[in-house]
Amino acid sequence: MKILVTGGSGFIGSNFIRYLMKKYDNWHITNLDSLTYAANQKNLETIERDSRYGFIKGDITDLLVVGEVLKQGFDVIVNFAAETGAEWNLLDAAVFTETNVKGVQVLLDASLRYGVKKFVQVSSYKVYGTLKPDDPPFTEESPLSPVSPYAAGKASADLLCGAYFREHGLPVVVARFAENYGLYQHTGKFVPRLIAGAVAGGIVPVSGDGLCARCWIYVEDSCRALEQIMLKALPGSVYNVGGPEEITDIEVAGIVLKILGKPESLIVFMRDRPEPERRCTVDSSRLRKLGWQPEYSLEKGLEETVWWYWENRQWWRGVEVYGGLRELM
Ligand SMILES: NC(=O)c1ccc[n+]([C@@H]2O[C@H](COP(=O)([O-])OP(=O)(O)OC[C@H]3O[C@@H](n4cnc5c(N)ncnc54)[C@H](O)[C@@H]3O)[C@@H](O)[C@H]2O)c1
Repeated sequence: MKILVTGGSGFIGSNFIRYLMKKYDNWHITNLDSLTYAANQKNLETIERDSRYGFIKGDITDLLVVGEVLKQGFDVIVNFAAETGAEWNLLDAAVFTETNVKGVQVLLDASLRYGVKKFVQVSSYKVYGTLKPDDPPFTEESPLSPVSPYAAGKASADLLCGAYFREHGLPVVVARFAENYGLYQHTGKFVPRLIAGAVAGGIVPVSGDGLCARCWIYVEDSCRALEQIMLKALPGSVYNVGGPEEITDIEVAGIVLKILGKPESLIVFMRDRPEPERRCTVDSSRLRKLGWQPEYSLEKGLEETVWWYWENRQWWRGVEVYGGLRELM
């Protein structure tokens, strides 16, 4: 199988590439990534010399570049490439729309032209907006009601994918992921920021009142979910991918501090976005019917994550792109 992964030098994409290369001897993976601040080439240094892997630096919004790459012929495209800092999209929504909407349209057009057999769009559960306290989790049929420009862009891309399936018969599948955590994530993001703050014994930053609730998913469970979706999902379908439990940000911070043996008094509440999703949980039963279920409880996944960051602290402390709380280390 020949797979094109776009945005593979970021967090979930790099985990996915390493996961597939470990499992499938005969698959060839090309990674097209423009290397924004969120990328880190160190994420893939263990496989960069493997003959089954190739890297191309390029932007998914660039029709010429994408066309040249797709000419090589791919069975599957998995699109991770996106601007992802939901906190930053309020400052500059243009770059979010450019990559997260136009970039997807460019990939869809090129996929049609070059006969890609399956296009998997990596989307977000934030397209659904926010639940009231007693609402059941979002299903794939829940209305799209995005709150932020980031989520609106992801929802627009999902709609484009549906349109290319209906109008052109392009075999597209959309996977809507809950909040991921795990190894190789940029330290500006929530869980690595908690760990960095706790390790440094400085502040452990939590946005707002810490009561936003989400169904966090460990990145390895996400990789297995995507594998099932890639191999088994019917064209035109949408899948939610969520973790095993709904938990608030402050509870996540508490678990991280407990693992590290640090006091909860380190938690500092920071200003949040004006309209954060207060409660966001998805029903993943459609995906479970494909034979997937999460293998990591939040405690187990956070243990793995915390100790990985601890063991690799020299590495991520020194990496310039890992801004975040580096100065605290
Ligand atoms: N991380 C999460 O919790 C989460 C949750 C739900 C959905 N998602 C979705 O999963 C995908 C991956 O998320 P992530 O956290 O790994 O993101 P990330 O920010 O860690 O990585 C994104 C990657 O895309 C690349 N990229 C950005 N713009 C590009 C462009 N124009 N052309 C080519 N490459 C470009 C970046 O260089 C980076 O390597 C995104 O589509 C995101 O919306 C993420």
